[in-house]
Amino acid sequence: MKHTPISDALTKMPVGTTITVKGWVRTFRSNRFIALNDGSTIENIQAVVDFEKFDEKVLRQINTGACLKISGDLVSSIGSGQKVEIQVVTLDVLGGADPEKYPLQPKKHSLEFLREQAHLRFRTSTFSAVFRIRHAASFAIHKYFNDRGFFNIHSPIITASDAEGAGEMFRVSTLDATNPPKNELGTADFSQDFFERETHLTVSGQLEAELAALALSKVYTFGPTFRAENSNTSRHLAEFWMIEPEVAFNDLHDNMDLAEDFLKYIVKYVLQHCAADLAFLDKRLQDEEKGKPKNERTEQTLLEKLQFVAENNFVRLSYTEAIEILRNSKPNKKKKFKYLIEEWGADLQSEHERYLVEQHFKCPVILFDYPAKIKAFYMRLNDDGKTVRAMDVLFPGIGEIVGGSQREERLEVLKEKMTQFEIDHEQLYWYLDTRRFGSCVHSGFGLGFERLVQFVTGMSNIRDVIPFPRTPGKAEF
Ligand code: 4AD
Ligand code: MG
Repeated sequence: MKHTPISDALTKMPVGTTITVKGWVRTFRSNRFIALNDGSTIENIQAVVDFEKFDEKVLRQINTGACLKISGDLVSSIGSGQKVEIQVVTLDVLGGADPEKYPLQPKKHSLEFLREQAHLRFRTSTFSAVFRIRHAASFAIHKYFNDRGFFNIHSPIITASDAEGAGEMFRVSTLDATNPPKNELGTADFSQDFFERETHLTVSGQLEAELAALALSKVYTFGPTFRAENSNTSRHLAEFWMIEPEVAFNDLHDNMDLAEDFLKYIVKYVLQHCAADLAFLDKRLQDEEKGKPKNERTEQTLLEKLQFVAENNFVRLSYTEAIEILRNSKPNKKKKFKYLIEEWGADLQSEHERYLVEQHFKCPVILFDYPAKIKAFYMRLNDDGKTVRAMDVLFPGIGEIVGGSQREERLEVLKEKMTQFEIDHEQLYWYLDTRRFGSCVHSGFGLGFERLVQFVTGMSNIRDVIPFPRTPGKAEF
């Protein structure tokens, strides 16, 4: 018999039908009540065994973590917490789980402990909820762009260029790392490497997306990106997924409109399609908040926060205005910031971004027109000669979630900028070609997918929203 997903068994199947379900045991109480979960929903189905009808040997194998196939009749449940349950007729243990050795017992485990059990943590309510929501957000992103005439471009993962110019790249090479062939300078001779040049894992698909946008008008990438920055924070991964739309003829304001509309759409989509998982995570967070001192608790619940972002306009202000606010802020005057804001030109740290969003405006903020010196080479220079048409979207609890800009479309200005940033013109000739032939105003941005998933799930550490996090010193699974 074909088996029924537990989500369907709980919501679609009429009482009285005989069904088969397969899943993993969450708990087994009183030698009678099995809570079975197959990941199709946060809910477990209760299966009731008449222990007199089953062999003791079988019953002993019904342990937390065991995989079962259960057939029986779907009946109305008199117990609280569920409408229907299964009266078990046949029960097969597909895979046992030794209770002495299975690491996930039916009790609350810390997120840190579960990170060490990344291969099994999918089986907890929290992580299955997070990964179902992650899927829904990913689907919503493709839907958003597809419905609006964007084309998905698969930008390369191996690249010879450093798009962000930050030099935080992982090398890709087949040369013998311990004894590479040498050139006349005595350094590694990459002309003998696989690609006959130096290559790395990409930090961004933007440069390639720009090439496509200057032909297909509206494109986006959605792929893995890699940064070898040694940041052990709750918002940084060495391998993360980024969504990068790029649109011909959009200026910075169109770009901000797109980012705001796009983010609100995903939040609304998740609110609409992941209600049960969000309700579970919302309650989880509220329980966690109760354990904190009053002054450290957040004012909004997860659901309130998501609704707030979906329904309210983001504040937009220039970097220069933001610096004025920060300079005169209480934490700056009382020297509470780790990095004090003294003058125009300072790079904003996450503490400053979060102050603006969480304390000052209490609303998502889009900052624009940053100093040219602290931003990447490709951003369009403003007429003042010192700021660029950059924009960052800052979110509560997260800080920077999106970074983007209007691109420098003027060949001479771009070349000048590359010279200043010591970027080889020859190596990026193909990028410069788009400015030589049929150049136009265009803009785009990058959304850090995991930071978005952090926001919509309320998970405080980015390592808990990607199945197998890569961070300094960690690549076990
Ligand atoms: O601001 P970033 O570096 O921008 C770019 O890479 C541009 N090329 C995007 C574009 O204009 N097409 O990165 C974009 C976003 C950040 O706002 C952040 O959300 C995320 O990517 N991000 C990270 N997420 C997790 N771990 C890291 N180490 C991240 N670095 C950036
Ligand atoms: Mg950025």
